[in-house]
Amino acid sequence: MARVKRLGVLTGGGDCPGLNAVLRGLVKAADFDHDVSVVGFQDGFAGLIMDRTVRLDSDAVSGILPRGGTILGSSNKANPFRVPVRVNGQMTFEDRSDEVLRTIDRYGLDLLVVIGGDGSLTIGNQLAEKGIAVIGIPKTIDNDLAATDVTFGFDTALTTASEALDKLHTTAQSHHRIMVLEVMGRYAGWIALEAGLSGGGDIILLPEIPFKVDSAVAAIKDRTFRGRRYTLIVIAEGAKAEGGEMVVAKVVEDSPDSVRLGGIGGWLACELEKHLETEVRVTVLGHLQRGGSPTAFDRILGTRYGVHAAHLAAAGKKNVMVSLRGTEITEVPLADAVKEIRRVDPGSEIVSVARSVGTRFGDEQSE
Ligand code: F6P
Repeated sequence: MARVKRLGVLTGGGDCPGLNAVLRGLVKAADFDHDVSVVGFQDGFAGLIMDRTVRLDSDAVSGILPRGGTILGSSNKANPFRVPVRVNGQMTFEDRSDEVLRTIDRYGLDLLVVIGGDGSLTIGNQLAEKGIAVIGIPKTIDNDLAATDVTFGFDTALTTASEALDKLHTTAQSHHRIMVLEVMGRYAGWIALEAGLSGGGDIILLPEIPFKVDSAVAAIKDRTFRGRRYTLIVIAEGAKAEGGEMVVAKVVEDSPDSVRLGGIGGWLACELEKHLETEVRVTVLGHLQRGGSPTAFDRILGTRYGVHAAHLAAAGKKNVMVSLRGTEITEVPLADAVKEIRRVDPGSEIVSVARSVGTRFGDEQSE
C-alpha cells in the first residue's frame, strides 16, 4: 500500500459547536503522528466544486479549540450531484461530481474527510462510490445518526436548551404562565427530550410521539389543581398533533433537504389559549442552539473523532465513518452510516424515566 501523504477535509451542512475541535484534532494528528498534510475546502462541497481551498497545518488550527462555527465555512446547499441552475426562470439541477474528482486529482489528495450530518455523509458515500477514498465524521446538533451513539455538537445544543428552560422556569413561576420552548432537531426529538429531562419540562412533545392538544390541556389543568400555577412545555420543531402535519417554516428550493421546520410552538400556544385562562408565551430557540463555544464534552469528542480519522487515514482505511460506541471510538462502514436516521424510541428507558418523574408527552388519555 502506498503511503498516504495528503488529505482533503470539508465541513458540510448546518454548522455546530465542535467543528473546529475536530479540524484541530485531525490536522494535528495528521501532522505530528503521520507527517500527512491537509488541505481544507471552503464552504462544504462548494469548495470542492469551485476549487476554493485553505492551507491547514498545525499553526492554522492553533487556538481554535474553543471557537464555535467552523474556520472552513459550511453550506447546507452545495451538493455536487445536484447543483442548482436556473434555466429560463426554472430551477434545474446538474451533476458536477466529475469536477470534484478533478479537484481531488489536482491537489493529489489520497483521501477526503467529510465532517457532516446525514446529508453530507450521503454525498460522501456517493463520492466513495465514484472511487474517492472517504472518511466521515458524524456532526449534528440533532444527534440523529444511527451509526454512532452521539454526534458532536449535540451536547452544546442540549446545554443551551436546558439553560433556556432554567431561565423560562423562573419567569413562568413569577407570572403564573404557560411557557412553550420550541427547539430544533429536525425529524428527531433528542434535543427536546433531553433538554426537557434536564431542565424539568412538565410536558415534552416529540416528533416520535404525536400529541393531543386535549391531553396537554388536561396536564396543565391537573398541575393548576395541584397548586402549580405555571407549566413548562418543550416542543421539538418536528412534533405534530395526532392526525396533523409537521409545521414547515419555509422551503429552501436549492437545498438538498429543502424543508425548514418551525412554528409548531406558536400553533400549540394558540390552541392552548382556546382552552385556558392562563397566558401562553412562546420562545423559539432557533440558531442559538448551533452557536457559541462547544462544551467540554463536545471539545473532547470532536478531538477524539478528528484524531481517530487521521489514524484511520494514515492506516489506509477508507469509506468508513468514525463512531462512538459506549466509551470507545471505533469506525463503521460509511454505507451503513447513512442508511437511516436515529429517532427516539417511545418505549425506551429514557422516555420511561421522564414519565416516572411526572413528565407528560401529550399522548395520555384525558378525561
Ligand atoms: O440539522 C441541524 C439543524 O439545525 C436542524 O435542527 C434544523 O431543522 C436545521 O438544521 C435548520 O437549518 P437552517 O440552518 O438552514 O435554518
